[in-house]
Amino acid sequence: PLTARVNDRDRLEIGGCDVVTLVEQFGSPLYVLDEETLRTSCRQYREAFSRYYSGDALVIYASKAWNCLAVCAIVASEGWGIDVVSGGELYTAKQAGMDASTIYFHGNNKSRSELQQAIEIGCTIVVDNWLELETLTELTQGIDRPTRIMLRFTPGIECHTHDYIKTGHLDSKFGFDPDSMESVFDFLTRQPTLSCIGLHAHIGSQIFELQPHRDLPSVMVEWFQLAKRYNLPIQELNVGGGLGIRYTEDDDPPSIEDWVKVICESITAACKTVQMSLPRLVCEPGRSAIGSACVTAYTVGSSKTIPGMRTYLTVDGGMSDNPRPITYQSLYRAAIADRMSAPLTETVTVAGKHCESGDVLIQNAQLPPTQPGDILVVMGTGAYNYSMSSNYNRLPRPAAIVVKEGEANLILQRETYQDLIRQDCLPDRLRGDLS
Ligand code: LLP
Repeated sequence: PLTARVNDRDRLEIGGCDVVTLVEQFGSPLYVLDEETLRTSCRQYREAFSRYYSGDALVIYASKAWNCLAVCAIVASEGWGIDVVSGGELYTAKQAGMDASTIYFHGNNKSRSELQQAIEIGCTIVVDNWLELETLTELTQGIDRPTRIMLRFTPGIECHTHDYIKTGHLDSKFGFDPDSMESVFDFLTRQPTLSCIGLHAHIGSQIFELQPHRDLPSVMVEWFQLAKRYNLPIQELNVGGGLGIRYTEDDDPPSIEDWVKVICESITAACKTVQMSLPRLVCEPGRSAIGSACVTAYTVGSSKTIPGMRTYLTVDGGMSDNPRPITYQSLYRAAIADRMSAPLTETVTVAGKHCESGDVLIQNAQLPPTQPGDILVVMGTGAYNYSMSSNYNRLPRPAAIVVKEGEANLILQRETYQDLIRQDCLPDRLRGDLS
């Protein structure tokens, strides 16, 4: 949970910084990332692995949750590696100084140039399908040093989460079908330029049950043994991410420690059964690392009460900085940062400013009476908010800051109107029409 408190002005304070003052200083809306919360979850993962796993383990950050230079630098300094899913995320991780040996490149349709970029950087490529395997074989011809790859398979394990974020079921678009496993392994025995060091599976995201993660390791240990029979230099199992976080009071996810424990125990037991030595264990959390570490601060604007129906309270952002409610019907919690102990007497619909009726951040938020200019914070916006943000309606993206021990530093500049037209081109023949 977030290292936040209410200060003596009855305002929300995060990382020792008064959120209302932060908005005065950095503008609104504003992503406020609490460094200590992020570091704490990084440490919880590492500590749990050292407690429950006697083999080698590596935690890598699923940077699709929030990829930018500062976040990469923080997780790297906690001894984490990183999972990237595009040339852009890879480029950012590299620019942040991350070591190629800790970078894992995912994706179900990597382009030739992305694969080329990955080969040159020397990161591990998590191969998703046959086309990619063939392209890699071609691109690595003549290169002395073998390119490290892992193979992603669909484990056929179901979990209860939103349909859009399930990935483990057999009709998922990700990964090789397990039926093709033997032919993939066989193909690799003939590819000296590719070194297959491991296997990967990811079940889905925002998962609260432990059972799917209890089931996954034994499936993967079976695959591992099969790969060994083909004499592949296999040594790693990557069990993906997926642990859910608490967005509202009703959410009750397992702790990081419990999740890691289940995986470690289950891998250890599966290895024991088949008398196999422990593989290097990799997992790649995104949401559970960073989700709770950020709040988005907005400024309250207009409101509208429809008698007998509802009150809309509008903020100066919305679906462009947090597309999760409109995409997945995700729930969030809010507070008024100016008056933290005021009684929550109002039930309102917190809406964004976009030209879209569905642009609602929270239905039935319990808040104190508000007035225009108040600072409304939405909690738990660290994962898949900035990274999924857009410029819909040509809203500039908010700034982001990292706070720690009373210090606030900019990590993403607020976009400007100039930024918005930076990629626009106006062909000469259209120019004359404008005065
Ligand atoms: N590894 C792989 C291969 C993944 O596809 C994902 C998430 C993760 C790790 C990290 O999962 P996490 O620990 O964050 O659950 N935009 C959606 C979530 C999409 C997740 C995609 N893959 C959302 O906002 O809920």
